[in-house]
Order: sequence, then structure tokens, then C-alpha cells
Amino acid sequence: MFNVGIIGLGYVGEIHLRKFSGLPHVKIAALADTDPQRLSHFSSKYSDAKLFIDYSTLCAEESLQLVVICLPNHLHAEACLAALNAGHHVLCEKPMAISVSSAEKMVATAIAKNRFLSVAMNFRWDFFGPDVFYVKKLIQDNELGKIYYVRIQCLRRVTFPVSGAQRWNLSKEKSSGGALIDLGPHMLDLGMWLVDNYEPLSVTGTVHNGLIQYAPVDDFASGLIALKTGVAIQLEVAWSCHNEPLWQISVWGEKGGVMINALESEGQRVVRYSHEGGEPVRLPITLNAEKWAEDDSLQAHVVNRMTTGNAADCSADKALEVMRVIEAWYASSDSQTSQLLGRR
Ligand SMILES: NC(=O)c1ccc[n+]([C@@H]2O[C@H](COP(=O)([O-])OP(=O)(O)OC[C@H]3O[C@@H](n4cnc5c(N)ncnc54)[C@H](O)[C@@H]3O)[C@@H](O)[C@H]2O)c1
Repeated sequence: MFNVGIIGLGYVGEIHLRKFSGLPHVKIAALADTDPQRLSHFSSKYSDAKLFIDYSTLCAEESLQLVVICLPNHLHAEACLAALNAGHHVLCEKPMAISVSSAEKMVATAIAKNRFLSVAMNFRWDFFGPDVFYVKKLIQDNELGKIYYVRIQCLRRVTFPVSGAQRWNLSKEKSSGGALIDLGPHMLDLGMWLVDNYEPLSVTGTVHNGLIQYAPVDDFASGLIALKTGVAIQLEVAWSCHNEPLWQISVWGEKGGVMINALESEGQRVVRYSHEGGEPVRLPITLNAEKWAEDDSLQAHVVNRMTTGNAADCSADKALEVMRVIEAWYASSDSQTSQLLGRR
């Protein structure tokens, strides 16, 4: 049995519970939450699980193969370090931390303890999958030629009410930011993963709070990231904005382009663009039941990789690079200058 312990049983903790428990040979063996009601809510359904109020006692459970951290952002680093130092492999929710320095410490600890540290980049499977796997294969097979531009828009119409919402996400201390640190990790990962490049060179970004002004965090961010290979990623994210909701990724190459519209109906979400005989060609792609992804879900991917002794593809060193972009983006917005990341 592959024993999983989950710390934090809120919105996303419940999703991990459902997805991990649906996998063959996986047992939910331990649960931790400071809220006794959340613990008792899940205790009958996951009756094999030991229950803990204090996550450090969960970390002391030697039988766990994987600890999943589903806490508010400001607690990710300390909980990850506790689990890694106790000798566990860890899957941490995004953003992996609220600062680059914490994220660096997490990666260094995982290396020192020889443990896998992965970060939940589940948008590769949820929302954009299997289309992004299809597009990644097109890029890998050089079907689009040299890629020079990726444009990503993740715009929600409304995430929080225009007054009075109280959640940790809206607290600067607990979340450390707003839409950028919430949606940015997923969308930046998708862009960098598609072009297989996690070497950001510079960021020019802005953030703004236009619609939820009672909260001290951004509800909109727009930025341009230059990668070492010469690819530019342009990203817009919004929790709220006066625009149609958009969940789109466009990839432009010298031979062809492709656009994924995740709000289209399944199987109809990808369009390819190219030129034939000098004329523009537009080719809607119907993705059948073909299996494009290596695994059906983030959770299956992490378990399958780990059981063969391999790191998941959504490893913490990639998430650290994403974190560098986000921290530099906030600095760029504050200073109204471009930020150079360079190579260390
Ligand atoms: N990958 C995704 O698609 C996705 C989606 C939503 C949220 N998230 C991320 O997941 C994390 C959690 O978000 P959420 O929306 O589930 O939050 P939530 O508020 O719904 O749940 C957090 C849970 O943690 C518990 N908790 C708080 N402090 C604790 C402590 N010290 N020890 C043990 N338990 C504690 C709370 O009681 C609560 O049950 C965030 O980092 C968020 O960014 C990821």
C-alpha cells in the first residue's frame, strides 16, 4: 500500500483526498487539520486514517510514503520542512512558498534529505488537459517550428464579492499576494512547461487591485517574461475584471501556431494555424479519447513516478523558478522597472 497523509482539509485538501483515495493501492493513512470539525467530517469516510490536530505529530508517522500540504500559503514552507525533516516525500500545494528564500530552503532540504518534493501543478491535467499534452507533443515534434511567443490569459469575471469577503487568500500576511500568486504559479508553469524552459531572464510586470479594493492584494496582473531560449511569455491573470472570462493559451512558432480555449466544450478546444501556399490555414482539432497525458491526474502522476523511484515532472526546482518570476513581477510592479533574473 502507498500511504498518504494530508495536512489541511479545506477546499483543495478535499480534492486531494478524493483523487488519491480513488487510485489503486493508495490508502489515506493520516489526516491533520486544526479544525476538529473538518477532521470529524472526513473521519467516517476515511476510517483507516489516523487523525491529528497538530501536523507535526502527523509528520512523526513513519508509515507514510507521501505527505500532501494543503495549508494556506504562509504555512507551506514550515509544514514542508517539518515533513521533509521527518523523512517524508512531499507534494506541496501552490504557490510552493511566499518567498524565493523559503522556496530555496525547501529545495535545499529536499536535496539534503534525499526526498522528492513536488508542487501541485494540476492545471496540466485539470482545465487544460489533455489539450496541453497534445500541444506539448506538437512542440516537441517540431510541428510548429521554432517557438517564439506564448500568450496566456486566465481571466475570471468574479472570484470574490465586491465587498466584505473574509478569507485568508485576501490577507497579505497569509497569502502574500492576490491573483498573481494564486493563479500565476499554474499559468506560468503551463507556459514554461510547454516550451520546456524554466530559465527566466527578465520580468516586466504590473499588478493592480481594481475590483476588490477592501482587500490589500492584487486582483489583476499582466506581465512579460523573457526566457533564456528567446521565447517570450505574456501572461494576464485576474480574479475579477470587466471582461468575458478567458482561459486561453496561444503558442506561436515559425511554422505554425495553436490556441487552446479551455472554456470551449471538451474535444473542441484546440485550433491549429499555419500557412499553405502562402494562404492562412485554420484547423480546428477534435481530440478524441486518445490518451495524451502520461497519467490521468496529478495525483496519479506523482504516485506512478514515485513507485518507480522517479521524481514527478512537477518538481520543486521548477516551481522555484516560477516563484522567482512571481517575486520579481511584484518588484517590477512596485518599482515600475523591468527586473533581471539572469542565471545564477
Ligand atoms: N492546485 C489548485 O488547483 C488549488 C486550488 C485551490 C487552492 N489551492 C492552494 O491550496 C492551499 C489551500 O487552499 P484552500 O482553498 O484549500 O484553503 P482552505 O482555507 O479551504 O483550507 C485550508 C485548511 O487548512 C487548515 N489549517 C489552517 N492552519 C492549519 C494548521 N496550522 N495545521 C493544520 N491545518 C490548518 C484549515 O482549518 C483549513 O481546513 C493554498 O495554498 C491554495 O493556494 C490550490
